[in-house]
Amino acid sequence: MTQLERFQRDGFLILEGFSSDSECDALMTRAAELSTGFDYTGHPSVFQTSEQTRTSDDYFLESGGRVSFFFEKDAFTAHGKLKNTIELSLNKIGHALHDLDPVYNNFSRSPQMKRLAAELCIADSLLIQSMHIFKHVEIGGVVDVHQDSTFLYTEPLSCVGFWFALEDATIDNGCLWAKPGGHQTALRSWFRRKDTGGTEFTIFDASPIDMTEMIPLEVKKGTCIVLDGLVPHYSLPNTSSKSRRAYTVHTISRDARYPMEN
Ligand code: FE2
Repeated sequence: MTQLERFQRDGFLILEGFSSDSECDALMTRAAELSTGFDYTGHPSVFQTSEQTRTSDDYFLESGGRVSFFFEKDAFTAHGKLKNTIELSLNKIGHALHDLDPVYNNFSRSPQMKRLAAELCIADSLLIQSMHIFKHVEIGGVVDVHQDSTFLYTEPLSCVGFWFALEDATIDNGCLWAKPGGHQTALRSWFRRKDTGGTEFTIFDASPIDMTEMIPLEVKKGTCIVLDGLVPHYSLPNTSSKSRRAYTVHTISRDARYPMEN
């Protein structure tokens, strides 16, 4: 069975040893450099984990074309001061690292990425979004079950995610969970800009996502997990003493319509 056939069967594909240790380390070093240089005074944007309370301020909406910093909700004291260093307080950096930062650009457009895209028959796709996700010890929070096409909606649907483990991902430190074949379902919602400002979810299918048979995708550092935009997935809080840093990029078809409301 080819990689493409496994991906089409399961809705995800696990590729161990996709990136070298040094390639993973380069991203973690770069994230630390970017974090240290970030002056957060004035506009801390806290990444809210529940979809209902997702940050929808201008900082979030403008981050699609920038290198923006999002804090964990438990990173601040009641008086609005960080409890730890900036890097140890962040949920993620996004969403245009792949275009704006040379280290992330190299990683995102590596020879092995080009080979993989060709094997998946999406060599012509566009890199639309990237995130460096920290999932720190103790404050690394839950990511509720979702479909990536909700946030990277195209007509027809075309989102494919690439999730790179920069460190070992285990049940304890909050690995991804997904169900083999879970992508054989409808898109539930579209996260879009409201005409009046802010964001909202347009509901296509109000039926709850089937949470049975979800399995933990425990993977070693250097693994790439490819995710169909329809496959429901989530991750639990990091309850371990080890961080679970990851980098993700998402692609869409260049032939699909990308609505202005995205
Ligand atoms: Fe996701």
